[in-house]
Amino acid sequence: MAGLAGSNFIKTTLITLSILVGACNNEKDLRSNEDGPSNVEEVNVMKLYTRHCVDCHGENGDLGLMGAKSLVTSTMPISERIELITHGSKNGKMNPFGVEHYGDLNTIEIEALAHFLETLRH
Ligand code: HEC
Repeated sequence: MAGLAGSNFIKTTLITLSILVGACNNEKDLRSNEDGPSNVEEVNVMKLYTRHCVDCHGENGDLGLMGAKSLVTSTMPISERIELITHGSKNGKMNPFGVEHYGDLNTIEIEALAHFLETLRH
């Protein structure tokens, strides 16, 4: 009997431990604003634009898929662009990219992208 109780104790301990380890791993999967590049110059902005923005906005910024506004004719100021990329559009058509919304981009990457968009304007 004592042996059985002992093995149950070990089982419970092991289960508890694996839950704890699992919780830690999950936390590591979530990015924070401290992860990734720490200054704008380090950001490979073309890669980010291609990966995250081209589907709707197109390579030149004027594809307009899913109602995406043209980045070529856009006059949106930089601060609003940063807000929009971080939190998404108010009408919900453009999804948020900020890590605080479980997106893939930290504040430095978003700032770099927001500046990069100026090169699409003409
Ligand atoms: C799922 C499609 C989609 C993706 C992906 C997407 N956008 Fe958008 N974007 C939109 C839509 C739709 C709008 C217009 C929102 C509205 O009607 O307010 C928009 C608007 C914008 C605007 C505002 C233009 C203006 O003058 O009003 C900017 C800037 C912008 N997107 C940048 C980006 C960047 C940078 C990325 C990549 C990180 C990106 N978008 C990815 C759909 C998308």
